[in-house]
Amino acid sequence: MGQKLLRFVKVIFFISVFSVYNVFAVDTNYYVGTGMFDVTGPATEINMMGYAKGSQKSNGIHLRQYSRAYVIKDKEKDTSVVFVSIDACMVSTAVKMQVAKRLAALFPGLYNETNVCISSIHTHSGPGGFHQYILLDVTSLGFVKQSLDALVDGIVESVKIAEGNLRPANLHVTSGELLGANINRSPTSYLNNPEKERAKYKYDVDTTMTLVKITDERNFDVGMISWFPVHCTSMNNTNGLISGDNKGLASHFFERDMNPGQLPHQVSFVAAFAQANLGDVSPNTKGPHCMDTGLPCDTATSTCNGRTEQCVASGPGRDMFESTLIIGAKQYEKAKELYKQANITGLRLSGPVDFRHQYVDMSNYKFQLPTGKNVTTCPAAMGYSFAAGTTDGPGDFDFTQGTNSTNKFWSVISGFISKPSQKQVDCQKPKPILLNTGEIDVPYAWQPAVVATQILRVGQLIITALPGEFTTMSGRRMRESLTQVFSEEGKVTNATVVLAGLSNTYADYIATFEEYQKQRYEAASTIYGPHTLSAYLHLFKKMATAMVEGKSMDVGPSPPDLLSKQLSFVLPVVFDSAPLGYDFGQPLEDAQASYKQGDLVSVRFVSADARNNLMTNLTFLTVDKLSSDGSWTTVYTDSHWETKFQWSRTSTLLGTSSALVSWQTSSRDPTGVYRITHTGYHKALLEEPKQFSGTSRKFTLTSLEWSYTPNDEIISFQPRD
Ligand SMILES: *[C@@H]1O[C@H](CO)[C@@H](O)[C@H](O)[C@H]1NC(C)=O
Ligand SMILES: *[C@@H]1O[C@H](CO)[C@@H](O)[C@H](O)[C@H]1NC(C)=O
Ligand SMILES: *[C@@H]1O[C@H](CO)[C@@H](O)[C@H](O)[C@H]1NC(C)=O
Ligand SMILES: *[C@@H]1O[C@H](CO)[C@@H](O)[C@H](O)[C@H]1NC(C)=O
Ligand SMILES: *[C@@H]1O[C@H](CO)[C@@H](O)[C@H](O)[C@H]1NC(C)=O
Ligand SMILES: *[C@@H]1O[C@H](CO)[C@@H](O)[C@H](O)[C@H]1NC(C)=O
Ligand SMILES: *[C@@H]1O[C@H](CO)[C@@H](O)[C@H](O)[C@H]1NC(C)=O
Repeated sequence: MGQKLLRFVKVIFFISVFSVYNVFAVDTNYYVGTGMFDVTGPATEINMMGYAKGSQKSNGIHLRQYSRAYVIKDKEKDTSVVFVSIDACMVSTAVKMQVAKRLAALFPGLYNETNVCISSIHTHSGPGGFHQYILLDVTSLGFVKQSLDALVDGIVESVKIAEGNLRPANLHVTSGELLGANINRSPTSYLNNPEKERAKYKYDVDTTMTLVKITDERNFDVGMISWFPVHCTSMNNTNGLISGDNKGLASHFFERDMNPGQLPHQVSFVAAFAQANLGDVSPNTKGPHCMDTGLPCDTATSTCNGRTEQCVASGPGRDMFESTLIIGAKQYEKAKELYKQANITGLRLSGPVDFRHQYVDMSNYKFQLPTGKNVTTCPAAMGYSFAAGTTDGPGDFDFTQGTNSTNKFWSVISGFISKPSQKQVDCQKPKPILLNTGEIDVPYAWQPAVVATQILRVGQLIITALPGEFTTMSGRRMRESLTQVFSEEGKVTNATVVLAGLSNTYADYIATFEEYQKQRYEAASTIYGPHTLSAYLHLFKKMATAMVEGKSMDVGPSPPDLLSKQLSFVLPVVFDSAPLGYDFGQPLEDAQASYKQGDLVSVRFVSADARNNLMTNLTFLTVDKLSSDGSWTTVYTDSHWETKFQWSRTSTLLGTSSALVSWQTSSRDPTGVYRITHTGYHKALLEEPKQFSGTSRKFTLTSLEWSYTPNDEIISFQPRD
């Protein structure tokens, strides 16, 4: 047989394979790429962002934080949008601006701040310090560059990965009701909304989960995004382990399910559980009780005997880990059910990819209310109830608890607190002003004045980038208003408006005008005054109208770049040392020789400050299983729910520390021989950090005749591998 004939046969073979492939291909409406990357911040010594609790410092990892990116590209035009959901408390202006700058340089003419939306899940268990405005960095003792860099680098990496795997795809949207996973934490404020409006809704929280399923041209699974409003405050303000809380866990479960055999940082199917209108929505479904007496708190004031500290909401679990598991599993299971049916009963998205973006100076936005009255927003200010915190985490903003002398950052800046002008007092009424942040910029701005507003569109799907925490009713008003614009003026059949909470700028809370009158926490934190929500409704409606009319928006004033001015009072790692007679990584308390399925395995290692190297895209621990060929295979990392990396300083003077690595085994873990490892970096005085690694003894895991695992009654989740 000649060379020519062989080539002919080869060509015929490829043509037939190609045709068979094409027969199975389905029509697709978009190009989609997905990417996920580690954004875990410093796991030791840095204050967690969210509860504003000075003593809540990071001391290990339960679940790593990730950025989940979705690039969606129009098939006809050259328009793309990027939606990113990150496991962080919020997106700061600094994060958004840095990411936009980096993406604009990497993909010239393709991406900038206008078509990239970064939304956050609002976990209260991630290290802070990534803000450029003072008030938001107070509890972290100022700016923490490592926190900012971890977020920016990881988000950019996730978008690069997504951009690198763009492929023809379909998106289907569907929604369903999820009950028992959220409650209103300011029900008395909600009741101040007009009765006629409340009568339109069954509950005082939104209970709808909206989900987008992404499949490729062969109907293979690519990814999903879901939106559901609930605070990520299942882990309470005593937790120091980095965690994505209930939403981070739901993503972890969904991704394990769809990526069998893959470790968390290797997954290709990306599942975001994004945030929505969560302002007044708590996951602590047992509701608030007095910690000392167990009785319900006073509802209107959330106090016990007139004091806030004891009034805390918890549940539904017996402790915060179980509560996280239950609320996370509920979201995961609902999403799985919706995902299955989305491409059968859901709406297949079709139509243009589009976006609008505008910066707005919210400190002085003048506009006309639908009633005809001309009103204005005010310079930012926090009301008194802000300091009281919420029932998810009662306040101890340092100055109210008399601990300001221990917080250096606070003492330096407290001298600059300004007295509100009469105009400001009138504008913010009835809010009694505690922190007049909008009228001071010494040493630099305290809260944002310029806010990003943005809408992304993918056919019938309208993603509304909310620059803060909209309460339930505030979100409903926004959704109704935009649905009306798109369906009536834009003639978009089945327009589906989703609210992407905590996107692009963190401008605190947004309560309705009626809720504002009650001045509970959410209202006290509605920083631009009583007309804040109405201003956003006005702005977003203008933007939606411009979109359906094909008109552009003014760019608006640029937010300031304050990164060169940042103050930081966080002490860097000076040195680490190992106790006399020990090496870094050596077990201090080794594993037992054998365990039964269901046992907790734990090993304490000589460790060092985890800030020496964040181990991004790596792990501080592994659980390895011995294979028949004598090699070790990693089955768990520090990002698995089953493991914990708990760090503690043993002597500040000597620079010694230890790490407790634990693994909750279960009947799903095959019996066999295992070991646990711990890796990190240690720093000698005035030297660069060096890597260390240590291993436990080998141990066996044996089976249980009667199998019981602590979590089985709660979650039916079964990894397929
Ligand atoms: C941002 O990117 C969009 C889309 O490529 C482009 O139309 C717009 O002019 C860019 N804006 C800026 C400020 O660079
Ligand atoms: C946090 O949760 C733990 C249980 O996991 C509980 O013991 C503690 O009292 C809670 N603390 C607060 C302030 O809610
Ligand atoms: C729906 O999606 C699944 C993948 O999740 C695919 O296997 C199935 O063929 C799709 N069904 C239809 C009707 O397109
Ligand atoms: C879209 O809207 C039409 C008309 O309102 C309705 O009949 C149809 O069921 C909707 N489709 C989906 C998938 O919701
Ligand atoms: C509100 O402002 C508009 C112009 O912005 C003006 O035409 C109108 O008369 C004002 N209304 C009132 C009641 O002052
Ligand atoms: C906290 O600091 C402020 C400003 O320096 C001071 O006026 C106040 O008395 C301090 N509070 C306490 C309880 O020490
Ligand atoms: C992250 O880890 C994966 C899997 O080990 C590897 O393939 C990838 O190159 C790493 N990416 C970066 C940016 O380090």
